[in-house]
Amino acid sequence: MAIRNIRTIGDSTLTKKSKEITEVTPKIKLLIEDMLDTMYEAQGVGLAAPQVGILKRLVVIDVSPEGDSPIILINPVIMETGGEQTGEEGCLSVPGKSGTVTRPNYAKVKAFNENMEEITVEGTELLARALCHEIDHLDGVLYVDKVIGGLHKVGEDD
Ligand code: NI
Repeated sequence: MAIRNIRTIGDSTLTKKSKEITEVTPKIKLLIEDMLDTMYEAQGVGLAAPQVGILKRLVVIDVSPEGDSPIILINPVIMETGGEQTGEEGCLSVPGKSGTVTRPNYAKVKAFNENMEEITVEGTELLARALCHEIDHLDGVLYVDKVIGGLHKVGEDD
């Protein structure tokens, strides 16, 4: 188990575009394990590789209450979205803050798993939000650019 350092807003890595993964090398396997450990340790529902300083198209997500249903997405592409949801969103790279963001209420994503097998993941509500948020990270986009009405401290009403 290895916890990696999470880059925070202001770090230039977070605004860069990540590159596709062509092969799951031992190094990538280790990165996947470390990203899962880091996400669970930080009690996040998702983490993208650029957040730990690696500009590769890899994200991990787990929106289950038990934290026992990890989703690993290599080179994810959004195929379809539908509906709309407006709600609170946060990011491990923007500690202590949250903001209101409108996202699709449904998202369907095509990706590869850790064995480089093609998979499709679809979800609504929190999973759809997490899919869109994490894939944005791979293009150097942070949720703060999409916030309606500014950021606030976690725990405050406004
Ligand atoms: Ni984030």
